[in-house]
Amino acid sequence: MAADNLRERAFVIIKPDAVQRGLAGEIIGRFERKGLRVVGLKLVHITPEQARRQYACHEGKAFYESLVNFMISGPAVALVLEGRDAIALVRKLMGATDPLKSEPGTIRGDHSVDIKHNLVHGSDSAESYAHEMPIYFAPHELFDYELALTGWMYYR
Ligand code: RTP
Ligand code: MG
Repeated sequence: MAADNLRERAFVIIKPDAVQRGLAGEIIGRFERKGLRVVGLKLVHITPEQARRQYACHEGKAFYESLVNFMISGPAVALVLEGRDAIALVRKLMGATDPLKSEPGTIRGDHSVDIKHNLVHGSDSAESYAHEMPIYFAPHELFDYELALTGWMYYR
């Protein structure tokens, strides 16, 4: 059996459209209610350099410049969430990139109709987490702690 990693970390950005639409609290709340711990959180106005580095894997694609301009268009919220299978869980709660494929009940499925204005970014692998998270957070900005209710949410 694979090791049970209760402390996997996922990197998330609540994108500028979500902040403008007053959905930051709603989105953070969904992650909290699922059982993920917030271990890093800050309001950031993303710089062009940060956006370009974060989305370097898409450099050269038709949507790249437009995506970078969108990500720097206003304040965003950077988050690190911790919990069992946090990376896969975050992607599930986000919903698909294509608005015709994001299921109702997901963040994108409930609140977004556009492939660009899609509210939230989440790292899609341990490798992308390792690449993206340090673009926004210094080590001392992440917090190790236990929630009192962990034993009621996680079987171990
Ligand atoms: P994200 O990286 O933001 O979490 O989104 P994702 O994994 O669901 O999608 P990805 O393929 O990584 O694309 C990154 C962002 O680029 C924009 N995009 N536009 N065909 C298009 O016009 C197109 N495809 C992707 C979206 O904003 C997507 O979130
Ligand atoms: Mg992606």
